[in-house]
Amino acid sequence: MAVLLTRNRFPLRAKGGGFHRRQSGGVYTWCNVTGRTKRGGRILRTCLAALVGAGATCGSLLYLLDRSVEAMVPVPRLPNHPWESQGYLKSLDHSAVRRGWQVYTTVCYSCHSLRYVRFMDLINVSHTEDEVKDIAAEFEVQDGPDDEGNYYMRPGKTTDKIPSAFPNDEAAKAANLGMYPPDLTYIIEGKRNGKNYIFAFLTGWMDPPAGITLTELQHFNVYFPGNVTGMQQVLFDGILEYDDGTPATVSQMVKDLVEFLTWTSSQEFDERKSMFIRAMGICLILLVSNAYYYRYAWSSLRSRQIAYVPKRKY
Ligand code: HEC
Repeated sequence: MAVLLTRNRFPLRAKGGGFHRRQSGGVYTWCNVTGRTKRGGRILRTCLAALVGAGATCGSLLYLLDRSVEAMVPVPRLPNHPWESQGYLKSLDHSAVRRGWQVYTTVCYSCHSLRYVRFMDLINVSHTEDEVKDIAAEFEVQDGPDDEGNYYMRPGKTTDKIPSAFPNDEAAKAANLGMYPPDLTYIIEGKRNGKNYIFAFLTGWMDPPAGITLTELQHFNVYFPGNVTGMQQVLFDGILEYDDGTPATVSQMVKDLVEFLTWTSSQEFDERKSMFIRAMGICLILLVSNAYYYRYAWSSLRSRQIAYVPKRKY
C-alpha cells in the first residue's frame, strides 16, 4: 500500500540495512534485497520450531506407547534383518522369488494353500511363459460341470488359481489334527513385522526348556506366540536342491521364501517402487521450478514499499 511520507522521514527509512531506494518522479520505492523482512523471518522460525517440537513430542509419545504395547505381548524381540528390498530404490530379488517358489512347492504346498495367486502371475516375475505353462499342467484342477452335470479334474492352465492340496479348509484342518495351516498369500502383510516374523518363526524351533512337557503333536517354537505350535520344523539343510545351484541351507531357504511371500502379498511391489521414483522425480522438478519462480518472480514485489511524496515548494 502506498504510504504518504514527508520528505524528512526518508533518511530514517533508508538507513535500514539492505534496502535499495529508487526514485521516479514523486514515487519512491524501497526494495529489500534479502527478500524477507526480519519480522517475517522471526515468525517463520518460531512456527517451524513449534512444529518440530510438537512433532517430536507426538512421535516420542507414540513410540513409547508402541513399546509398552509390545512389552505386553509374551513374544521375544524379533531379530531385525537387513531386507534388501526394503530400500526405497530397491526391487525384489527375482532369482530369490524363483527359489522361494521352489521351496514352497516342494515343502509347504502339502499343507499351506496359496489360493489368491494365479499361475500366470508368475510369468516374467520368476518364470518364463513356457515354464509357467509346464508348471500349471503339473497341477490337477477341478472344472465343470460338464454336459452331464459332473465336475471333473483336468490339468491346470495358466489362468487358474493355484489349487490347494486340500479340497476345503475343514479337510486341511482334519489332516493337521485340528490345526488349520493358514493360507500363505498375504501372511507377510498379515503378521506384525511380517518378514522378520516369518524368518524367525521358520528358524525358531528348539527343544522345550526343562519343566515344559509337550505332547507328540506340540512343538516348541521360541518366536511363536505362546511358544507351542502345531507345525513342526519342516526345513532342514539340504532338504532340496536348488535349480541354480545355490546351497540350500535353512536360512537361505527361509530368506528365499520370505522374498517369494513378499511378492505374493504385494504383487505390485516393483511397479509401486518405480512409480514412487517417477513421482519423486516429477515432484523434485516441480519443487525446484516452483522455488525458482517464487523467489525470482515475486520477491521484488513482496519486499517492495512504495511511497508517493508530493513535491513541496520551499
Ligand atoms: C505338515 C504340514 C505343514 C507343513 C509342511 C508346513 N506347515 Fe506351516 N503350519 C502348519 C500348521 C498345522 C500350522 C498351524 C500351527 C498352529 O496354529 O499352531 C502352520 C502354521 C504356519 C504359519 C503361521 C504361524 C503363525 O504365527 O500363526 C506359517 C507362517 C507357516 N506355517 C509357514 C510355513 C511355511 C513357510 C512352510 C514351508 C516351508 C510350512 N509352513 C510348512 C502345518 C504345516
